[in-house]
Amino acid sequence: MTAARKTTAPGRPVAGRPSRQKRSQPQLLAASAQAEQPPLPLAQFALDYRSEGIGQSRIVHADCFEWLGSIPESSLHAIITDPPYGVKEYDFDQIEKRANGNGGIWRIPPSFDGHIRAPLPRFTALNDKERATLRRFFVEWARLAVHALRPGGHLFIASNAFLSQLVFSALVEGGLEFRGELIRLVRTLRGGDRPKNAEDEFPDVCSLPRGCYEPWGILRKPLPPKMTVSECLREFQTGGLRRRPDGLPFSDVLLSERTPRRERQIANHPSLKPQSFLRQIVHAALPLGQGIIADPFMGSGSTVAAAEAIGAQCIGVERFADYYEMSRVAIPQLAALKLRSVQQASADESNVKAEDYQISASTENIPRQLNLLLPW
Ligand SMILES: C[S@@+](CC[C@H](N)C(=O)[O-])C[C@H]1O[C@@H](n2cnc3c(N)ncnc32)[C@H](O)[C@@H]1O
Repeated sequence: MTAARKTTAPGRPVAGRPSRQKRSQPQLLAASAQAEQPPLPLAQFALDYRSEGIGQSRIVHADCFEWLGSIPESSLHAIITDPPYGVKEYDFDQIEKRANGNGGIWRIPPSFDGHIRAPLPRFTALNDKERATLRRFFVEWARLAVHALRPGGHLFIASNAFLSQLVFSALVEGGLEFRGELIRLVRTLRGGDRPKNAEDEFPDVCSLPRGCYEPWGILRKPLPPKMTVSECLREFQTGGLRRRPDGLPFSDVLLSERTPRRERQIANHPSLKPQSFLRQIVHAALPLGQGIIADPFMGSGSTVAAAEAIGAQCIGVERFADYYEMSRVAIPQLAALKLRSVQQASADESNVKAEDYQISASTENIPRQLNLLLPW
């Protein structure tokens, strides 16, 4: 596997990465001059990186720190992304260890306490130094996101229950405005185990609660001083969130599912997110249904596929060549999927265990309007 760029500290280039050729920066558009402009053609966002158009979207093989800092200022309407949370779990050596079954930051099955697990990054294993690195990573990344987003542009960012407080505060330190959290209701495979190597001694104890949700940060590039949301919508087509297709407000709890097997068969990425969830986020992120979304940590392209499925424009950026290649094939196939309801999809999963399905049963009490509509 080759990387478009390797980093020692977050965002810092090291020798050996295939850098793009020097060229003049694309013309930076002043925010005010941009208001009446149609969205930039996506090919302009490729700069000099390898890139391809897929439908009305585009994928770029680049390091997103470099890419975000190089695209025109205030040019994206929204960012939806799922970053590497241990920062290092998608470093080349860690991906190789995962593939070879040697562990590294990836916990390799079979695990303890009688449960077989898919490899998961060991976020709990991060020490103080690594947590400080993580903070720097997200502060620096947020500054670049602020450069790239239009005023009022939203960021939806996947997180996990251990690290969300650290990551969200770092994003705020980098200049983004915290607008709340989106709870993706899903069994995450995290927690619930008895204390390691003392399972028999403490049979009634679990070290961590069993994970039943995934927190996503909702942040926004601050509006210009004194600008209202309606003014922001008129000038930048940003600032708010789009209501659901049935006219109800976008809600911050979404009943979800583990990524269905048929999607995993299309894109064998360890962090693949389900289309049923992403299509709702993509829909919400463009308040007027117009504009450009980016996923700077694209992986196998699930966000780009979700955008394609609902007719939105998205740019996906991925630094590893193998995942970039995977996305070229996966995006059209994921985008073409017709989705079932979350409950139906969970029930249809042949490998789903009874306890996994309980999350759907236990959501019976969730108000009806939180349940998923899948018009796409
Ligand atoms: C958590 S995964 C996202 C997977 C995605 N949700 C999907 O459904 O396929 C993060 C991805 O970001 C990529 N990545 C890590 N650092 C990057 C960087 N600096 N620039 C671009 N991509 C990066 C990793 O290679 C990995 O594929």
